[in-house]
Amino acid sequence: MAKVTIIGATGNVGMFAAHAISAIPHVSEILLYGRKGRESLLKGITQDLGDSFAARGTDMRVTWTTDLKDAAGSDVVVITAGAPRTPEQDRLDLAMGNARIIAPLARTIGEIAPETKILVVTNPVDVMTSVALKYSKLKPTQVFGLGTHLDSMRLKSLIASYFHVHVSEVHTRIIGEHGDSLVPLWSATTIGGIRISNLPEFSHLPVKEIIESVKCSGQMIIQNKGSTVYGPGEAIASLVRTVLSDENRILTVSAYIKREVHGIGDVCIGVPARINREGVFPIAIRIDESEVIAFRESVEKIRISTKHVLEALEESVMEE
Ligand code: 2OP
Repeated sequence: MAKVTIIGATGNVGMFAAHAISAIPHVSEILLYGRKGRESLLKGITQDLGDSFAARGTDMRVTWTTDLKDAAGSDVVVITAGAPRTPEQDRLDLAMGNARIIAPLARTIGEIAPETKILVVTNPVDVMTSVALKYSKLKPTQVFGLGTHLDSMRLKSLIASYFHVHVSEVHTRIIGEHGDSLVPLWSATTIGGIRISNLPEFSHLPVKEIIESVKCSGQMIIQNKGSTVYGPGEAIASLVRTVLSDENRILTVSAYIKREVHGIGDVCIGVPARINREGVFPIAIRIDESEVIAFRESVEKIRISTKHVLEALEESVMEE
């Protein structure tokens, strides 16, 4: 049985992710971590979750702490801590501020839970995954981000509703930045196992509008209800379940790549990866030339932002 720690449990995504994760059979304990001064909120969330478990018949231990050392022995640590973006902000606008939050958390987690898997949700998630990888000093297979898994789910849902098919009949994925430079892989999209380009109806698919809708989805939800919660929360739980159940599914998450995508690498970014109890293993893929060009652009955008943030963090660490 497994222990899952949620760092940032007092935030909307962390709170709902705890509830979604509690439905995973392998999980026996959830630890909610929040900053000192949030004790009452943590207590309230723990009690409220406990009531939901009783109603559902879940026999699960949920505890809270403001001492990160209690995360020792965690099988998975989910990090949702950090400032969420406003409708006017791009995810990258949050980079430096959230990096200063993620770096010390990752360092402590790497020290007290060296066997754990870290799932980063904090945006900009590709850059924050690199920060967590560097400061935790864990292996690249142990540190990954929500990445474009949620974008891929959004695209899957839009294609299913356009073609009036069950969402499980659609297999698609988006790679690259969890952000405006995301890259839909039409070359890897099938409906009922049939390549979408071999379906006459595909020619009428409003591709540009659908991709625009995926790109703006987060912002639209934030504008209308303040923050995205259910989408990321369930996406997080699906990744935690895939790790703990040792499922070997191939999902698209933010992971460190060396050369797996047409020789492009040395960055954390959304790529297809095999996920199991040992962690996250990016797989080598071949994609269409136009997709390679778009992916290379997306990687360079994230590489620049990542380099800037890691250098600035180094300087601030040196000054301490
Ligand atoms: C989203 O797109 C949280 O960035 C995440 O909903």
